[in-house]
Amino acid sequence: MQTKVLPYSRAASYTAYWAFLLAVSRPLIGAYAALLAFVATIVLNVVYQFLFRMLNQTRPPLYGDIFTFILLGRPTTVYLGAQGNEFILNGKLKDVNAEEVYSPLTAPVFGSDVAYDCPNSKLIKQKEFIKIGLSQAALEAHVPLIEKKVRTSLLCHPIFMEHRGQWISHQQWRRLTSLPQEALSGEKKCGFTPINSMLPWAPLPHNKKRDAAHAQMRAIYVDIINKRRNAGDNVPEKLDMIGNLMQCTNKNGEPLPDREIAHIMITLLMAGQHSSSSLSPWIMLRLVSQPAVVEELYQEQVANIERTGPNGTLAPLRLEDIDNLPLRQNVIREILRVNSLIHSLLRKVKNPLPVPGTPYVIPTSHVLLAAPGVTALTPDENKKEDIVDYGYGAMSKGTSSPYLPFGAGRHRCIGEKFAYLNLAVIVATMVRHLRFHNLDEKKGVPDTDYSSLFSGRLKPARIGWECGAVKFF
Ligand code: HEM
Repeated sequence: MQTKVLPYSRAASYTAYWAFLLAVSRPLIGAYAALLAFVATIVLNVVYQFLFRMLNQTRPPLYGDIFTFILLGRPTTVYLGAQGNEFILNGKLKDVNAEEVYSPLTAPVFGSDVAYDCPNSKLIKQKEFIKIGLSQAALEAHVPLIEKKVRTSLLCHPIFMEHRGQWISHQQWRRLTSLPQEALSGEKKCGFTPINSMLPWAPLPHNKKRDAAHAQMRAIYVDIINKRRNAGDNVPEKLDMIGNLMQCTNKNGEPLPDREIAHIMITLLMAGQHSSSSLSPWIMLRLVSQPAVVEELYQEQVANIERTGPNGTLAPLRLEDIDNLPLRQNVIREILRVNSLIHSLLRKVKNPLPVPGTPYVIPTSHVLLAAPGVTALTPDENKKEDIVDYGYGAMSKGTSSPYLPFGAGRHRCIGEKFAYLNLAVIVATMVRHLRFHNLDEKKGVPDTDYSSLFSGRLKPARIGWECGAVKFF
């Protein structure tokens, strides 16, 4: 349908032009005119939005399950529900694009030629390499490492030493669950700030820190790669992710460049560490609000794990133990459901997209936003599993499910297994050693702060803790 209204931008510029002429010739009248122009611009904008929408029925409305709003200066169309998730997350590659929306934020952090700084076919290949690196054997080997890291934190981390028996705030918790490479942690340092989606190159102090941190991280990984290559000890039985990537070859049969390996490692560190360290405070806050569940989690281990540790204590965790602890798995699953970690999944529209069953056509100026976390809170009984293979193994197409904490479609998370394992070991180790309580007789959990890419807790979010009955130290 042809729209016959005066374009808002042209009308606004006429008004501004006349205000300017007046301001030059008669200052007082000019000031009033400027004020009038300002008010007129707002009124015109509102009238334009309503008029345009009334006349152009193909544009999504301002409310309902499909609606458009301006996010960081760009018209963003949200489509809620399982159909919306299917429409956006399983959209065709030629129609919807993740790189254009995510790369301003991620490319300076992850580095060149990986993730969203390369064509999707290359990312799919990289996900295939990562999947090989997250083999059963690698996951088995990670369990004692993660447990050791948590125990070392409990024993030696300055936060626990300083605040023994007191409280841990959400920032401290994040530091506790970070890897030693803290250079890029923190939303500011890694540049995951709203302004960076528009001005990632701006010479702002946080961008300088981000770039310096990226260079530092890359140098660390390239150094590890060089040392291994020179020592000639990249043998299969020692294969961790770096070792695995050093053995992978691209489609010409050539090994991956060192720089690319380093950038994939930074991507994994950022995607994996950031998400787990954002979710684990939620797990603790939820558990604190349900102390009986903490006790049940502990008793589940007592009932299922042998007491072959020092002085008859529980044995160190193994991968096979995790399947025998269903309550712990379910706690993590449920917290992922009620605290959708990545609340908005974005795609840029590349071709005008008709929305099936509606008169709407989403234009190419729009960004699409899927919010599977909303669907997870309004469950649908008609679940069905569609299997699909995008090139890195068969998996559930998933969009018909109301539960999609790891996304769906070709951009679905590659780290789900590792994330569960990581969180499961962290929770199991914490409940072995600590008891938690809410401070100041508070009930429930803090509200969610949606202002960042990852849903965090509204501050302050602090919990009390003490050493548990069964101690390892
Ligand atoms: C609780 C933990 C995690 C959650 C909730 C989570 C969630 C997600 C979601 C929702 C996406 C899809 C983004 C989109 O469609 O726009 C995603 C993508 C991704 N995740 Fe995770 N993730 C987690 C942990 C991890 C871990 C541990 C790793 C690495 C080992 C990882 C690596 C990735 C990568 C590389 C992508 C990009 C995939 C692509 O665009 O094709 N994630 N994650």
